[in-house]
Amino acid sequence: MTDNIPQLTTFDEPALNGAFATLAAEVREASASLTTSDAQENFRLHWLGRKQGRLKLISDAWLKSAPAEAKKALGIRFNQLKQQIEEAIESGAVATAKSGATQEIDISLPGQIRQPGIAHPLLSTMHEVVRVFHHLGFSTSLGPQVESDFYNFEALNFPPNHPARDTQDTLQIAGQQSRPSRDRLLMRTHTSPVQIRTMIAQAPPIRIVIPGKVHRNDAADATHSPIFHQIEGLCVDTNITFSDLKGTLDYAMKALFGSAVKTRFFPSFFPFTEPSADVQISCIFCGGTGCRKCKHSGWIELLGCGMVDPAVFAAVTAERRKLNPDDDAYNPEHITGFAFGMGVERIAMMLHGVSDIGHFYSGDMRFLEQFA
Ligand code: PHE
Repeated sequence: MTDNIPQLTTFDEPALNGAFATLAAEVREASASLTTSDAQENFRLHWLGRKQGRLKLISDAWLKSAPAEAKKALGIRFNQLKQQIEEAIESGAVATAKSGATQEIDISLPGQIRQPGIAHPLLSTMHEVVRVFHHLGFSTSLGPQVESDFYNFEALNFPPNHPARDTQDTLQIAGQQSRPSRDRLLMRTHTSPVQIRTMIAQAPPIRIVIPGKVHRNDAADATHSPIFHQIEGLCVDTNITFSDLKGTLDYAMKALFGSAVKTRFFPSFFPFTEPSADVQISCIFCGGTGCRKCKHSGWIELLGCGMVDPAVFAAVTAERRKLNPDDDAYNPEHITGFAFGMGVERIAMMLHGVSDIGHFYSGDMRFLEQFA
């Protein structure tokens, strides 16, 4: 190796000019053929290798024998030479990349196909249900998932410590003990608090649907999940009757599940509706003759509903009177309404024949792809 190191004995200007011109020519010649990335790497190692690189060997040798006053000039020239080498590698790399781009494309290969995104089956089910009610003149309202005790329970006629609260095992937000009970925060257990928010904000007539996420401290199994989705409905106006409720839901169930579907209403209880009912539809799997899905009853229970309880109107009126003491927009002598609530997962499972709710949350493409 050292044989290859050119000797330099004089360090004046003309001598340096000559010596560095020779080296520059050597770099230029070698860099003419840097057409592959291998050649570029070999060239880089040959010239710039940290221990055995030619630049390092020559500069070590020359700087060692140079007189002190020549070292600075030498250093500057070695830096210039190093720049020349780096530029040669750089332009070699650019050239290879360019030619690679034109030469290496195989136009017979299939292209990269980007999978189009789709709405998640729960979202598309929500859209489907909401659309049915939009056709009936309902609009959409939304509310927060972190809710206060007042909106989620108290205004809906669940008094503090009332056993009706036990039907909705609630996830409380930590550190709320110092607050008055009505202001304590929790994860909303149903979409019904948005009924209250909407009525406080606007006078009748009201026709809204409220799709959204709700949370309960329930153990997950094939049909339960601690986070799930509901669609709430609220209609408030003069002369709203239970027949309006029945007609609306019967129409909606036929629109969702097919015109052959029948509905029936069973007495039930919710603190915020009176009377209350559970709605069943004739089994969409067997047409009502009885099968495993409907436990041989011919009917499937799907949603809760009822006429808005006057106690709810009273709570809304109390809030509205804080802003306007004369407010009488929700006087139950003149105003009636109905409300209903349904689980989105349950409807999606029925519509698509899904037997485990967990599929909706697993993110497994083999499941989700089926809805593309
Ligand atoms: N909020 C009730 C629940 O989650 C459902 C419901 C809504 C019932 C509206 C009646 C009226 O159980």
